[in-house]
Amino acid sequence: MCGIVGYIGNNEKKEILINGLKELEYRGYDSAGIAILSEGELKTFKAVGKICNLENKCMDFTSRGFGLGIGHTRWATHGKPTEANAHPQIAEFSNVVHNGIIENYQEIKKDLQQKGHQFLSQTDTEVIVRLFEEYLKNTDDVWVAFEHMVASLRGAYAILLISIKAPDKIFYAKNGSPLIVGKGKDGVYFASSDTPLVGCVDRVVYLEDGACGYMDKDRFDTLTHIKPLAHNKIYAQKEGFRYFMEKEIYEQHKVLLETMMGRVSQEGIFLESLPSDFFDGIDMITICACGTSYHAGMSGKYLLERLARLKTNVAIASEFRYADCVMGKSELFIAISQSGETADTLEALKLAKKKGLKTLAICNVDNSSIVRESDGAILTRAGIEKGVASTKAFATQVMVLWILSVYLSHHRGYADTKTIKSQVASMLKATKATEVNATLHERLKRLSKRYLHGHGFFFIGRDIFYPLALEGALKLKEISYLHAEGYASGEMKHGPIALADSLLFTVALLPKHLLYEKIKSNVEELGARDATICAICSEDFESADDMVYINPADDYMEEFFSMMVVLQLLALEIAIKMGNDVDMPRNLAKSVTVE
Ligand code: F6R
Repeated sequence: MCGIVGYIGNNEKKEILINGLKELEYRGYDSAGIAILSEGELKTFKAVGKICNLENKCMDFTSRGFGLGIGHTRWATHGKPTEANAHPQIAEFSNVVHNGIIENYQEIKKDLQQKGHQFLSQTDTEVIVRLFEEYLKNTDDVWVAFEHMVASLRGAYAILLISIKAPDKIFYAKNGSPLIVGKGKDGVYFASSDTPLVGCVDRVVYLEDGACGYMDKDRFDTLTHIKPLAHNKIYAQKEGFRYFMEKEIYEQHKVLLETMMGRVSQEGIFLESLPSDFFDGIDMITICACGTSYHAGMSGKYLLERLARLKTNVAIASEFRYADCVMGKSELFIAISQSGETADTLEALKLAKKKGLKTLAICNVDNSSIVRESDGAILTRAGIEKGVASTKAFATQVMVLWILSVYLSHHRGYADTKTIKSQVASMLKATKATEVNATLHERLKRLSKRYLHGHGFFFIGRDIFYPLALEGALKLKEISYLHAEGYASGEMKHGPIALADSLLFTVALLPKHLLYEKIKSNVEELGARDATICAICSEDFESADDMVYINPADDYMEEFFSMMVVLQLLALEIAIKMGNDVDMPRNLAKSVTVE
């Protein structure tokens, strides 16, 4: 999704801005741009597509001496991915970059058009820079004009604005979208997430909602809540794999061990990041998340209810925000997010907090907005996830929820030492089950060729394998662009079975240790209507057209994690056969910071 960078200092601004944008590339974008203000001149460069196109555009440009610049990667929301719509958005003598959505942009635009402004783009962002210049007609004070402009905006935004009228300042405003400012020995930097800042600055301020101000080369130290930022850049490399997604599938067993480290042992479960009374008085849980994280949350519901006997609701964050849900004071609100910046999840969390609920983040990014906003956090420790289609983040989210369920089971007096020991043993086996076996991968490579046509996929499962089926379908549609739906297999005969014919591919999750006979009958019903069945099971299933065997397991969670890997690899191999860019699928962004 959109990314922002900014810089004030003496170094080559073009290079700094472009390097920063490259760090944000994996989040998904469709155009990019930079603007540099130096020696009284403001230069803007924009290009559609990859950052290398932008680099080509400004190949011959250099900026010497003191100056400043802003940069942006855009993921289209208002208007197509064209050069005119790319940021920076331009007015007469100012440029702006913006993440988020200006909800009242139509009103502002109409008003400005009546005052004679001619708009060059279809974006909501252009109103920011034009409104700023409109205010500047009535004052010589650039800051006052900026402040007035920000006060007129409604919506979510992170904004950087530069103007020839204030050649030593970057103006900023933040509401709902992340924005960080940092200082290093070479100058002051801005970015919408940590990654472009690592290695460039040693101190940062995570700006709060409502922050609005300006920065010059000396003002950083006047800010409050300055925090250190670690210097070591952790680069994610493909390490010989064809795609980051493939590498991330392969490293799941390793990151799952990290997730368990220090938390899971034969002596019990320890959640060292939370005070021991954190869960006191809690008698219900609401989990809120989006996409894959929502599927992890749904899986968590089965675990929390079965193991900890805690009533658990799971809500899609974008739905929760406006549903005026009934919330009780003894309810714990859990926000699950890989990035920690998903706008809908963040806003749902703020809403729950406002209603007085205790809040917990299950998140992969420390210091992210969701972690900072929550009363407590359990980090998933999946490491940087570069593939837009989430894999290892899902695995670690489910593991954290499992650990939490066993912890709460003990806390609430349901799990004795023997039960904890057996759950811990099961977690270790489940982790082992995610090690990718070469024969399995080869089998899925071959099998994928047979699933490139047809009119769609059903992924079916029961109980905790139902959210896994939803996740399998989501993975496939995200990267292969084939139509796929996940269903609770018991639901098939209530409607979806009408679609069954030989060109409908059904991927059936058949765990031996959970409701095996029940799901078997559901699959047989589909087979009887000629659907093509691909069964994932540890033993033969005679009604299947294709079998993917997982290793025999001792319990259903081990089967869950084995099947998760099969679904991820199946989606990967089908997408590769379709010729798609697996790591940057069309229309998708890694971190969805707009509503
Ligand atoms: C799917 C995927 C998305 C995210 C969703 C929430 O592969 O990556 O569905 O899971 O956008 O993102 P986070 O977890 O960052 O809040």
